[in-house]
Amino acid sequence: MNMKKILVTGGLGFIGSHTVVELQNEGFDVVIIDNLSNSSLDVLQGITSITGKAPIFEKLDLKHKYSVKEFFKTHSDIVGVIHFAASKAVGESVEQPLMYYENNLNTLIYMLDEVCNLASSNFIFSSSCTVYGQADEMPITENAPVKPAESPYGNTKQIGEEIISDVCRVNSNLNAISLRYFNPIGAHKSAKIGELPIGVPQNLVPFITQTASGLRDFLSVFGNDYPTPDGTCIRDYIHVVDLAKAHVVALQRLLKGGNEANYETFNVGTGVGSSVLEVIQSFERVSGLKLKYQFAERRSGDIITAYANTDKANSKLGWTSKSTLDEAMLSAWNWEKKIRGL
Ligand code: WQD
Repeated sequence: MNMKKILVTGGLGFIGSHTVVELQNEGFDVVIIDNLSNSSLDVLQGITSITGKAPIFEKLDLKHKYSVKEFFKTHSDIVGVIHFAASKAVGESVEQPLMYYENNLNTLIYMLDEVCNLASSNFIFSSSCTVYGQADEMPITENAPVKPAESPYGNTKQIGEEIISDVCRVNSNLNAISLRYFNPIGAHKSAKIGELPIGVPQNLVPFITQTASGLRDFLSVFGNDYPTPDGTCIRDYIHVVDLAKAHVVALQRLLKGGNEANYETFNVGTGVGSSVLEVIQSFERVSGLKLKYQFAERRSGDIITAYANTDKANSKLGWTSKSTLDEAMLSAWNWEKKIRGL
């Protein structure tokens, strides 16, 4: 059996593509499934250009249970799965809850049903700090209570974790890890892959870079009257390559049998909280530009503060984030300039 064959679903997405690069750098053979609903084949070219190795790619919609079964008949020698494929726009999920529950949960169920039948059942789930809601204590540990989700998107991550936990409880051969991402930002240093938001970006950093490149007139800072030092919300912004590397070490933990239980969760962040204004100041520092922004009303559903306690990932995964906020913001800006031809 090829002990290096890994399936990455959603592997042409923002975090997925960066994870495929790091998997290939570690010598894994990668198979990507993506339905191209929120990505393009250009990303496959970018990955191949960076690593010199073309992943196997299959365009497949994981909502089609039969197609998923057929896929695993062909690829029964997969030894690990990293499951990114999901819809992830918080606002959209409020408008279209059923689309989110179908796309994020049915696909997870079909995947798990097949993974449990593999000879080597190792599964990494793309979860999110959104499961904590507004945590009571900072930094947030993995033991912080999961709070009622603020959106159907967040609910799919909570329910997804519960589904995996329940399946692991009755399938001792299944080994799974949920990685709870904080705020992924930035791009690969080559500027050959990065974040490609469709339409008007919902997230802060792509909106900043698109404002600086002239695509947006100005950035609206959603609220400066929060109970924080400068009045703006605080988040834990982690470089997407550091986040990608966390997936590789989590997978290696399972492949080596180093996990202490067959279901574990890990926070993946920097452990540092940065306010919206501090992110803007970081961008201005690294770009040498003055960003056009204005204060606006608070955005409904926003929490005030979230940053990770990363002790568990540091000690048990032997992983820690390496990049500073400035390095992440510079990589985001270099990517923006590349795709805008600046
Ligand atoms: C960060 C801060 C905004 C845009 C979301 C998802 C989370 C995860 C990461 C998937 C907030 C402020 C933003 C803007 C602004 N996604 N902001 N002007 O909301 O922390 O997390 O993305 O897993 O699940 O909820 O990230 O980048 O949208 O916002 O002022 O134009 O920037 O109010 O304080 P968020 P974000």
